[in-house]
Amino acid sequence: MTVTTSIHGMWSTRLAFILAATGSAVGLGNIWRFPYTAGEYGGGAFVLVYLACVATIGIPIMMAEIMLGRRGRQSPINTMRTLVSQGGHSPVWQLLGWMGILSGFLILSFYSVIAGWTLAYVFRAGSGIFDAIDATRAGAIFADLTSDPERLLAWHTIFMVLVVLVVARGVASGLEKAVRYLMPALFFLLLVMVLYAAQAGDFGGAMTYLFAPDFAEFQGKADEAILSAMGQAFFSLSLGMGAIMIYGSYLKQEASIARNTVIVAGMDTLVALLAGLAIFPIVFANGLAPDSGPGLIFQTLPIAFGEMPGGGLFGTLFFVLLVFAAWTSAISLLEPLVAWLVENLGFSRVRASVLGGLTVWLLGIACLLSLNLWADVRVFGKGFLDLFDFVTANVLLPLGGVLIAVFSGWLLARSSSLDELRMGDGLSYRLWRLLIRFVAPVAVSIVLLNAIGVLKLIGLG
Ligand code: TRP
Repeated sequence: MTVTTSIHGMWSTRLAFILAATGSAVGLGNIWRFPYTAGEYGGGAFVLVYLACVATIGIPIMMAEIMLGRRGRQSPINTMRTLVSQGGHSPVWQLLGWMGILSGFLILSFYSVIAGWTLAYVFRAGSGIFDAIDATRAGAIFADLTSDPERLLAWHTIFMVLVVLVVARGVASGLEKAVRYLMPALFFLLLVMVLYAAQAGDFGGAMTYLFAPDFAEFQGKADEAILSAMGQAFFSLSLGMGAIMIYGSYLKQEASIARNTVIVAGMDTLVALLAGLAIFPIVFANGLAPDSGPGLIFQTLPIAFGEMPGGGLFGTLFFVLLVFAAWTSAISLLEPLVAWLVENLGFSRVRASVLGGLTVWLLGIACLLSLNLWADVRVFGKGFLDLFDFVTANVLLPLGGVLIAVFSGWLLARSSSLDELRMGDGLSYRLWRLLIRFVAPVAVSIVLLNAIGVLKLIGLG
């Protein structure tokens, strides 16, 4: 028997799923994380590897996640339990769901801190302190914020309250509406930023930097750069932790998974590239370093807003929309856990959301303290914020992705995926199956193993 609805509610229309999944995918990952990570690894070559990962690993895995979610119609843990028992496979596969919950906690805890920076910048942009600002001053304003644990805590708390509020109300109400208007608005503003950067900044330099790959740029850090490009693809597409799986579980039976996936992944990639094109012209025109790290957009965009006419208003609007983009992403990080608490422990949505939110909030405090009071506390050479970011994007999400790929390609019956994807037994289905069975698991495993030096140890790297 196929279950055709979820107890947690359903997307009201097909468009609602696209909006929600895009809302999950497009967020700080595109506008904050993509530019600074690309900058850390020298630009073009990183971007090229990133795009290749989206096309050959990201898209097939996104289709697989949506497919599994829609077949299971529950939280990722219980979806896996159902699919595993239907196929007579080992219960070990539920680990996938548990790993996803862990990733969700870790990601959301630092994500909320960065979203807090964004919230703080809404008010900075409005106050006029960016007027005619230079790079040094922009850096000082940013450092001033990150060195103050109390302010960081206040913004982190406000953001987590916002997330819990929406998750507590349920996916269909609120979330759908927010995405429908705010995502197009963000997209429009980003376009305006690119146009501004094109005439005020070093646009040619930025184009070359981002789109003329030169592998010498990796400067002996190729293993790490490729790992980070792959990790960025997982992070940006919201893959490998069950967020897209649970969104798929609210998707109507007749919707085309392949088409939806291509639209969502396409928009996500476009937004990331536009963010790069808005930021790097300003970076180069002002003599800033592309590899200045997580503060990159907070140190460059204020310069643009400070110079352009109406920059105060425009900057405020931009950061407001970025907060919304972060909000619609953060929701999807909490949803798998909340759905599980409701299903298994019989919690109300409200109680589940508050409990999940509190846990994340506590973890987030460790992240924000790692920027100041706990700057000396290092685990594997990193502070908590960097550590959570690195471990989730570059290890847990790809690992989750491999498991999803192997399960969908090797354990789930061919007839089941054929039936669920509803794309006919033609070229596209066969291509998907090839990518999900061989390309994605092998490529991800090689990158992961290579990064931990295993291949070197056994003499292959
Ligand atoms: N993709 C989001 C962004 O780019 C972040 C995000 C939301 C995410 N849900 C996720 C990342 C699930 C990994 C897994 O901002």
